[in-house]
Amino acid sequence: KVINHYFYDEAAYDYHDGGYVPLEEPQTPEKPLNIPEILKPDKETATDMYYTIVAQTGEVQLMPGEKTKTWGYNAPLLGKTVVFKKGKTIHLHLVNHLPEVTTFHWHGLAIPGPIEDGGCHAPVYPGESRDVTFKIDQPAAFVWLHAHPCPSTAEQVWHGLAAGAIVQDDHESSLPLPRNYGVDDIPVILQDRRFHEDNQWNYREDYDPDGVAGPTPMINGTINPYFDVTTQKVRLRFLNGANRREFRLHFSDDLEFTQIAGDLSLLPHPVKMTKLLIICAERQEIIVDFGKYKPGDVVTLYSDDVPLLRFRIHEFQPDTTVLPETLFETPDPAVDKDLPVHHVTLDGMDEAVAMNGKKFKMDRIDYKMPMGKVQLWDICNTNPAPGMIHPYHMHGTAFKVVSRNGHAPYPNELGLKDTVAINPGEHVVIKVWFHVSGVFMYHCHIIEHEDGGMMAQLQVIDPANPDKKYHLMNHM
Ligand code: C2O
Ligand code: CU
Ligand code: CU
Repeated sequence: KVINHYFYDEAAYDYHDGGYVPLEEPQTPEKPLNIPEILKPDKETATDMYYTIVAQTGEVQLMPGEKTKTWGYNAPLLGKTVVFKKGKTIHLHLVNHLPEVTTFHWHGLAIPGPIEDGGCHAPVYPGESRDVTFKIDQPAAFVWLHAHPCPSTAEQVWHGLAAGAIVQDDHESSLPLPRNYGVDDIPVILQDRRFHEDNQWNYREDYDPDGVAGPTPMINGTINPYFDVTTQKVRLRFLNGANRREFRLHFSDDLEFTQIAGDLSLLPHPVKMTKLLIICAERQEIIVDFGKYKPGDVVTLYSDDVPLLRFRIHEFQPDTTVLPETLFETPDPAVDKDLPVHHVTLDGMDEAVAMNGKKFKMDRIDYKMPMGKVQLWDICNTNPAPGMIHPYHMHGTAFKVVSRNGHAPYPNELGLKDTVAINPGEHVVIKVWFHVSGVFMYHCHIIEHEDGGMMAQLQVIDPANPDKKYHLMNHM
């Protein structure tokens, strides 16, 4: 069966918002899609990998005319793709060449917090650096790196501080899936910007407390991109790296595609669809089969009716590989009987956003949970319909979606997740467990809502060190 709708409540789609900025097709020449380079390690042994990651300023020819001033990781805009292998120990030298404090957050990595995780408690000041070490112990996925200093996460991500990272494991590597990076396996980072005078971005001028958006689609840091297709099947690793915007994806000819993975794992089974909504911070991986097209054809990826990316079909070898019916077994550990359901509410709009009625404070721990124990969390969007969809995200863990208002989760959210979209008035129950300890944030991933205080933090307690103290600054 092929799914041909977007699952979510249409009344809550972002285009109903009073401040909605419609996407517009760029009137600039088409350009080849930027494929971020793979970041090379400084050093590598059988068990350890060493990388230097530099947050830097730059400028990029995005539009005809003036170059745009941008920020990025080891690149002028966005960043190089890091490839992590499960089981390896990673040593990172994090360097800040920006004019202000930043942090390096690994969105989707289950690594200790708050320092390795890189949230607001792990500042790197201008001209300084920080070294962190962690082990990769999670299934294959597409995760990302972004800045996370409170409360200027949104502005720094808007400047360009966001990059994809691929986690590999033996299981995923054994499956017949496209994985020739840049050829048939490509990251597709979906963002939007507004170009002001001289092609510059101006976050402050565009500011909206419910999320900043711009009319121009920017894909992997390319305006009006095309991609040359040279294989019958192409794997697209979508990352919604926008501050606010939802992308409602579909192809020309209503081309059917197959979703194989979500945020933090493969899906249990491939899901065939013609429409896919991706909310801020989510990742969705699909395989597109261009078998019915011939050289010279063009297949267009749209959000609503605006073209995002054009696939130019070239000669390719026929590919008859069949996707396995089973891709992944999602872990489903039993809930601990001693832990009652934990309730989280996402409250308010505009400047009044909050979580459980409170605004985030860096030096307040809102909840404690034992490491290794499994608990149900009930996440409620208290905005009545037709309010907005909040993307709820947790650091340091991979969770399983259990139910939506008592009903089964959507078929494409049956793998491990770190971000789940909550419709207005909806309760989404998720199963949460941590295998690392520390202090972790959880929040709405409309980044202006997060900066505005729709965020809280929990301490995951390691039974071997229950009294561990954390240095929690407060500059909010
Ligand atoms: Cu993308 Cu607090 O994270
Ligand atoms: Cu995160
Ligand atoms: Cu929100």
